Amino acid sequence: MNQRPIPPMIPFIDVAAQRHRLGGAIDAAIARVLGHCQFILGPEVRALEAELAAFCGAKHVVTCASGTDALVLALRAKGIGPGDAVICPSFTFCATAEVAALVGATPVFVDVDAVTFNINAKGIAGAVIAAKRAGLTPKAVIPVDLFGLSADHAAIAEASKAHGLFILDDAAQGFGATFNNRRLGTFGHATATSFFPAKPLGCYGDGGAVITDDDTMADMMRSLRMHGQGSDRYDNVRIGLASRLDTIQAAILTEKLKIFPDEVVTRDRIARRYSEALGDVVVAPAVPAGMSSVWAQYTIRVAGGRRDKLAAALKAEGIPTAIYYPIPLHRQQAYRHYPVGEDGVAVSDQLAAEVISLPMHAYLDEPTQDRIVAAVRRALVS
Ligand SMILES: Cc1ncc(COP(=O)(O)O)c(C=O)c1O
Repeated sequence: MNQRPIPPMIPFIDVAAQRHRLGGAIDAAIARVLGHCQFILGPEVRALEAELAAFCGAKHVVTCASGTDALVLALRAKGIGPGDAVICPSFTFCATAEVAALVGATPVFVDVDAVTFNINAKGIAGAVIAAKRAGLTPKAVIPVDLFGLSADHAAIAEASKAHGLFILDDAAQGFGATFNNRRLGTFGHATATSFFPAKPLGCYGDGGAVITDDDTMADMMRSLRMHGQGSDRYDNVRIGLASRLDTIQAAILTEKLKIFPDEVVTRDRIARRYSEALGDVVVAPAVPAGMSSVWAQYTIRVAGGRRDKLAAALKAEGIPTAIYYPIPLHRQQAYRHYPVGEDGVAVSDQLAAEVISLPMHAYLDEPTQDRIVAAVRRALVS
């Protein structure tokens, strides 16, 4: 047999390349924390919160242990719980809906737009009807800035206003993206993000934050992340959780934030190169006017059942791919009993069958991009 050897796999997300760029600065930042030993809510946490607030143009940033906890803290701070409906897209990572269930509320699924993959604001009214029919009180909507692209926050605000919905933006993938030239963080009533290592702004473990201009919510979330503390740690005025961002992670994030805007520009350049080179053979991701993406993923659509063939062909050439998300939430075992909005979720089903993500990170050099493009074209144009 004369089998061609498989070339070494290129990384899907190259955390090590960034680590190399930042190496000395991160080591020094960690050493400073090791020096003062304030591992929980140390000075680096407060400094990072101020830096992140300035970055987004927001009043408050409350850091916490994960993006999932960030969503939970925001819902808990608004008192959302049993009997309440939380409207969210079906085509997203499970945490978006999971947090509704975790606080005792009920997720109600809405479809996404076929071009942007983000929540279709026109579906919100139909989700409100479905929620009421199920005996629930519609209280909140969680739009997602999927794959790093800002959702249409103007349309979401408009559609939510009539129903008095609390808008909690899930920017776990989209932190740093813009809508009408403003960075995410001040759209809706609160914005949650994740610092999971693979995210555009990731730390070296788990981490998350809530961004808000609402003073009362910020105070409430600071209490909730510390077991519901009141005037001091041993004054417990409500049931809370233990959810802080480690001081070491805050120190790491401060260093990473310094190069983040530059990384976002590079990601955008790579995405444009991909789209120019592939736009005639796949459905390349769209970035509508007035929005930007931080490209948490570069996700194309491949119709006609050719996706598996493409993934296999790329793998054989040492190029990893990923499918985000193969099963929309309304079909997942843990979520399929929850209500779906009046307009259905057909686009979510279609996207789950067609999407595939290519390697994307700020350290993907042009020869590697060209290798990926050539392999995709070879697989599809034959
Ligand atoms: C859209 C979305 N929401 C929420 C989360 C949850 O973030 P974390 O993994 O930090 O809990 C993630 C990330 O994993 C995500 O992609």
